[in-house]
Amino acid sequence: TGATTLDPGFVNTASCTSAITFIDGDEGILQYRGYPIEQLAEKATFIEVAYLLIYGELPTQEQLDRFSGKISRRMMLDERLKELYRSFPRGAHPMQVLAAGIMALGAFHRDNLSVHDPAQVEEASLRLLGSMPTLAAYAYKSSVGEPFLYPQTRLGYVENYLRLSFGTPQEEYEIDPDIVRAFETLFILHADHEQNASTSTVRLVGSADANIYASMSSGVNALSGPLHGGANQAVLEMLARINDEGLDIKEFVSQVKDKKSGVKLMGFGHRVYKNYDPRAKIIKGHADQLLRKTGASNALLDMALELEETALNDDYFIERKLYPNVDFYTGLIYEAMGFPAQHFTALFALGRLPGWIAQWREQHADPARKIGRPRQIYVGEKDRTYSPINER
Ligand code: CMC
Repeated sequence: TGATTLDPGFVNTASCTSAITFIDGDEGILQYRGYPIEQLAEKATFIEVAYLLIYGELPTQEQLDRFSGKISRRMMLDERLKELYRSFPRGAHPMQVLAAGIMALGAFHRDNLSVHDPAQVEEASLRLLGSMPTLAAYAYKSSVGEPFLYPQTRLGYVENYLRLSFGTPQEEYEIDPDIVRAFETLFILHADHEQNASTSTVRLVGSADANIYASMSSGVNALSGPLHGGANQAVLEMLARINDEGLDIKEFVSQVKDKKSGVKLMGFGHRVYKNYDPRAKIIKGHADQLLRKTGASNALLDMALELEETALNDDYFIERKLYPNVDFYTGLIYEAMGFPAQHFTALFALGRLPGWIAQWREQHADPARKIGRPRQIYVGEKDRTYSPINER
């Protein structure tokens, strides 16, 4: 039988039930396992939130220590995997390298590819959480042609990641606690967001019983698009273009409103949030503080603030309920920390990984689960007769 309901972009279709993340888009509410994002962003650590998302409850100190220890012991990559990284050209996009790295990780850990054995799923989850910062940092190091460092188990998750990204073999990397806290917050804000494009991709690939590494790598690929996680890179490039070309903000906003221009206000708009994105609100608060601390130029931040102000008072954006989303201010922070724009989306992926893992596991724990298999409404020709090539 043919499908009867058409819903392009799944605007009205729920693909699953889930007990992980709650969003009320009209009220600007986001909760992980029932805990408001504002509380988690301020008080929790990223690994605590990863535990919450995956296992459903906040960990006790003992549970957290055991979980962190297991993750730390899985940060080291097989040396041959590093060879794969070395083979990418200088300047390769970190999201391409990261997706390839996650797929390769599965090939190096063939003893935890079963989707039916809970012990293997647990091992693969820990392996992914442990290896992802190393993979992301090496993607950065290989893109700039610098040597890879080994992770240090005595360091925390974020500390390790920053040292692997910015440390050098000759010098001790100085860890700034304010910057670590900022990354804890940013990663928490990105950790899950129900059935967005990348999470739906993870679930769809997972629904075919493809291994968990294949699902996560697919999630990274979906996230790389500029309408999704790639927006953080696109926002900074947009601000840089306005700056370089000396464009007037009002002029730029007029360009955006002219649909023929094909120019979008990147970092604005959201399928679900029609009031404001609570993540953007928290990030905006941090951006000013961090930029001042790192002594980074505030020129682009001032421009972003002016752009936001102009858009929020413009009928085009008011009528369409377009507000800044999570990606509007993050790039400015990442840039101030020293990351090139190309690397921003890999930071989003690092934050989103626990959510993808939690969603994959929730899906596989459901005895009623089915392979994802949408239907279509066929609009093409029917019942034609083949003609030999010389008669066409
Ligand atoms: N700039 C200009 N116009 C916009 C924008 C924008 N950023 N976003 C939406 N619109 C317009 C759109 O053209 C449409 O106008 P009309 O009704 O006249 O045709 C109307 O607003 C509704 O937009 P839509 O494209 O139907 O909304 P959607 O829910 O399908 O798309 C979106 C959501 C996030 C893809 C879109 O708002 C967008 O492209 N934003 C820019 C990219 C971006 O910042 N993405 C990050 C999203 S949040 C984090 C994440 O998912 O990674």
